[in-house]
Parts: sequence; structure tokens; C-alpha cells
Amino acid sequence: MRRSGLNYDLLLKWEREHVWHPFTPMKEWTGPDFEPLFLVGGKGAILWDIHGREYLDGNSSIWTNLHGHCHPLINAAIKEQLERFAHVSFLGTTHPLAAELAKNLTSLIPSGTLQRVFFSDNGSTAIEVALKIAFQYWQQNGFPNRKKFIAFSGAYHGDTAGASSIGDIPLFHDRFSEMHFPVYRVSSADELQTHESLLRGEIAGVVLEPIVQGVNRIFLWPRGMLRQVREICDCFGVFLILDEVLTGFGRTGRMFAFEHEGVVPDILCLAKGLTGGYLPLAATITNQRIYEGFLGEWHEGRSLFYGHSYTANALGCAAALANLKVFEEENTLQKVNELANFLSELLESLSEKCRFTKNFRQVGLIAGIDLNDEDGKPFPPLSRAGWRVCQAARKYGLLTRNIGDTVILIPPYCSTKEQLKKMVSAISRAAEECLMS
Ligand SMILES: Cc1ncc(COP(=O)(O)O)c(C=O)c1O
Repeated sequence: MRRSGLNYDLLLKWEREHVWHPFTPMKEWTGPDFEPLFLVGGKGAILWDIHGREYLDGNSSIWTNLHGHCHPLINAAIKEQLERFAHVSFLGTTHPLAAELAKNLTSLIPSGTLQRVFFSDNGSTAIEVALKIAFQYWQQNGFPNRKKFIAFSGAYHGDTAGASSIGDIPLFHDRFSEMHFPVYRVSSADELQTHESLLRGEIAGVVLEPIVQGVNRIFLWPRGMLRQVREICDCFGVFLILDEVLTGFGRTGRMFAFEHEGVVPDILCLAKGLTGGYLPLAATITNQRIYEGFLGEWHEGRSLFYGHSYTANALGCAAALANLKVFEEENTLQKVNELANFLSELLESLSEKCRFTKNFRQVGLIAGIDLNDEDGKPFPPLSRAGWRVCQAARKYGLLTRNIGDTVILIPPYCSTKEQLKKMVSAISRAAEECLMS
């Protein structure tokens, strides 16, 4: 137990009176019986709360953290930059770390393909940038009718208005449908192929989470789907925009998920793991042809009309550079693959150990475990099975979140095998405890 010495009662009062959390029923959160979890410290895969209780960070702090909390190399890089400055404008000036990071990011992608990096702040903005780049590109390069996007069923690309327009998770998106722009929706590469005339004339880009849709309860695309989508986009001259906000930086066992099918997008969106999960920073990376479509004399107005105050934040760039260094120094990708194999074994045996966790899906260190009753049927939605299991798992030392009745396990790459075992065991103990009828 690590005592924090903080005034819990006072903090709880401030929390209940003044804070508003994302995706959170605030009436319940601020109720007298609900104890919000105050996290105060972390090291590696472990986080501890204000009372000194320890937890394994089983969803990598909402899928962001890669090498663990307080990694010495990343902490040092942030501190070093902090002594110079924390932030300067990227509108009209630049700084060394941004230039170095752009070079290092592009060198991770097969040479000569994606060469230009546009920085922003988070996964949603990485997508917004991609949409605006594709839209503006066609407007000023001779195809003004290419204004629409095709996205996939079950997609999640973020919550800003543009990113949520292309999303398709009813709980998150339906209530905003009247403020969304119209999007064509397909559920497979074969269906995409049928939209020949749209692809030929109206479509600016096809947007896809490659290999796996995370928020869609870890839905795995059939093998070869990504390659097929790439071929269709090539055939009709449409941009392929890949959202690797979750899958980027080793999550699926390759540096980028597109490597699994030997393709490269025209526009790549990265965020979450870009800084190792330390600071908000995103990158939208394009090929040279797209970039050149924005070149011209200043008075022609061909510049990309998009930007944010914290674009290319220097502390974020320092963290991102250190993150990439850790990949090299710690041979991270090999570690991810070893852990992923071990996790597969654990998940296989989980289905024998626990009556309620028979189905799971996994790629790399991304896993979703469905909760079903003993006959394999779904629980009634109002029983909140997934939520209850994740809450109960805290007692057994695991922090993670559910999506509906799917428990998500996306552990940090620094997790030990023993820690992975504890995470999976916490899920099975919590499920047995909560779901017994
Ligand atoms: C695939 C994907 N794209 C985009 C986003 C949005 O990222 P952010 O929450 O940083 O805006 C997410 C977030 O979970 C995601 O999983």
C-alpha cells in the first residue's frame, strides 16, 4: 500500500461538485454510494489510487500507453524539453523536435510512400485533418465533385463532428445524426466494389480501421479485406485513409496494422500511442502527390486551412521521439508478439475456467472477451453485465473497461507474463462473482 497523503474527502467533494466525465452517467458518478477511483501514481503496468491500492492498467489508460507509466527514457525526454520550452506556435514558426519526429515517423513507413506529416492533438483531430485534406485536395485539383466519403459499418473514428459523421456506433453517433454530414456506408470490401459510379465520380476517400475495429467490440476484418479495399481505391483513384489511432505503434504485432497485408494508405492517421501514451499528440501523414496538391503561390489560397493552437506541441514531440527510441532499445515489437502469443493461451484457457467467457477475439495485444450466460446467450442489456464485471475486476487488481458486454483487454507492452495472468484471472473471478444467477 502506498499512502498518498492527499485529502481524499476534500478532493471527493470537488470532484462531485465540479467535474464532468466523458461517456459517464454523472448522476450515478456523483451519487453518495459511488466512489470515483482517484489514481495518483503509476509505474510500468501498475497504477495506484489515493488509498494506496494497486491495479494493473488493463486497457493501457484508454489504449494510449505502450511501454508503461513513468518510463525513465520518456520521462527524461519530456523533462529535458521542458527546460527549453513546453510549447511554441506551429503557425509561422517551427522547432527541432517536430522536424526530427516528422523525419522519424516517415522513415517507419516503406520508403518513398508517405512523406508529409501534419500534426494535431488527438485521434479525432487526426481524422478531421485527413477528411479536410482529402476534401480540399479534390476541390483544387480538378475534381470538385469528389466531396463524399465512404466509411464502414461499426466504424469509430472519434467524437468531433467530422470524425463522428463517419462513425457508426449507434450509442455514440445516432443522437448526433442531424448534425453529421452524409456518408456512404458499406460493410465489406465486396460491397465497396459495388459502388462503382460513386467511386468514379463522387468519392474523396474511403476511411477504414485496418485489421480490427476496436470500439466495435474488437471486430476483426476477414484476412485480405484491407488489400482488397486498397485495390478498389487504386482502381478508381480514390484515397484510402487508414485510421491507425488504435492499431498504430505495434498494437497488432507490426508497427502499423497495414503491414499485415503489404499495403500502404494514401493518408495515415496516428494518435494514442504516438507519445507512448504520455501526452496528446496526433499525426496525419500523406503521400507526396497529395501534399503537392496544396502547393501554389500564396495568393492562390491552396494552403491547408486547418490547425490548432497546440499543433506539434514540443513536449508531445519529445515524448514521441523517446517512444520511438524505446521501440529500438527494448526490441518492443518482438516483446509484443511474445506477449500476444502468451495472451492467446491465457484466453483459450479462460474459456475453460469461466462459464461466462467463452468467446474472445484477439490480434496482437488487443483483445475483447464477450460475456454470455451459461447457454452462450447474451445477457439482457439492462443487466449491465460488462460494466459490473469491470467494476468487480478492480477488487482483483485489474482496471479495464467494457464496451457493452465485451470486456476489453489492451495491456501495456511492458506487462510481464505474470501480470497478464493476473489480468485474465481478475476477469474470470469477477465474471464468476457477478454473473452467477
Ligand atoms: C480507431 C480510433 N480512431 C479514433 C479514435 C479517437 O481518438 P481520440 O479519443 O484520441 O479522439 C479512437 C478512440 O478510441 C479510435 O479507437
